Amino acid sequence: MISYLIDLFRSLCVGRPSKPPTAIKAEVKPLPRQMATTFYKGDNLHWLKTFADKSVHLIYFNPPFGTTQNDWDHKLDWTALFAEFDRVLRDDGNIVIHCSVPFNYTLIREAPRPPSYSWYWKKEKITNPFLAKIQPLRNTEEILVWRGRSKAAYYPQRVGDEERTFTSKGNNTTYYGATTPQKAQTVKGHYQTHFLDYKRSIDGFATRPAELIELIIKSYTKEGDVVVDPTCYKGLSGVVAKSLGRRWVGIDLHFFPSLLLECSPPSQKALNTLVNA
Ligand SMILES: C[S@@+](CC[C@H](N)C(=O)[O-])C[C@H]1O[C@@H](n2cnc3c(N)ncnc32)[C@H](O)[C@@H]1O
Repeated sequence: MISYLIDLFRSLCVGRPSKPPTAIKAEVKPLPRQMATTFYKGDNLHWLKTFADKSVHLIYFNPPFGTTQNDWDHKLDWTALFAEFDRVLRDDGNIVIHCSVPFNYTLIREAPRPPSYSWYWKKEKITNPFLAKIQPLRNTEEILVWRGRSKAAYYPQRVGDEERTFTSKGNNTTYYGATTPQKAQTVKGHYQTHFLDYKRSIDGFATRPAELIELIIKSYTKEGDVVVDPTCYKGLSGVVAKSLGRRWVGIDLHFFPSLLLECSPPSQKALNTLVNA
């Protein structure tokens, strides 16, 4: 606790760590699997360099798109960031990033490989009213997913309440070849599609609602897994991760105490000890 307070005080005063970052590969002492949340103040690339290899299950964030005049809305070094993402991510991990045209093309161009697929978030209101006379009004955002190197984790979520019973004798289809016979089974709802219909939850510059964050975290992680949000702003993803029993590490240039303090970060060094926990 004391070391956390010292670190927190230092990060509040200085904003950046006093020592240059080094890749700490550490004496690995896995934390107990109980949930832990940690916040790092400063540049995300700088801090990511201090994380252990293959220690993270999910990198999920809504970054600056570099398309407005907000002072935080500058272009990030995507090539360098992806190199760190790939290093800290477990082989079955996923990278999930919010974006929209034209920013998604920058992201895809600078990432080391194309994304595997995307989600589409339909918002309740349009987001570009000033452009109404020169292009269609926009009410969606893309969420691109880069799967891990092998066997990327995906835990499909079911939605809806309707019950349905189905059975199949098996088929031979021209599209997918032979399908296996299925015994009669009753299921509730259906698997989540990639189309997400959620009202925005605007809090300063944050727009992701807790329900959307929850769906993404549950789709890619299990309890005890590590989620990193490298532009976490006020830390709503940390509050959601904590409520779901995930470990969470947030990074932001600025410290917004409200939600982050709710996360009660126990240790600044947590991630360096999480390898294969
Ligand atoms: C659009 S806000 C993110 C909103 C937040 N992800 C959410 O959905 O609640 C962008 C955030 O990125 C942070 N940011 C910008 N550049 C950064 C960098 N190099 N390292 C860490 N954080 C950065 C800004 O301080 C700002 O809080």
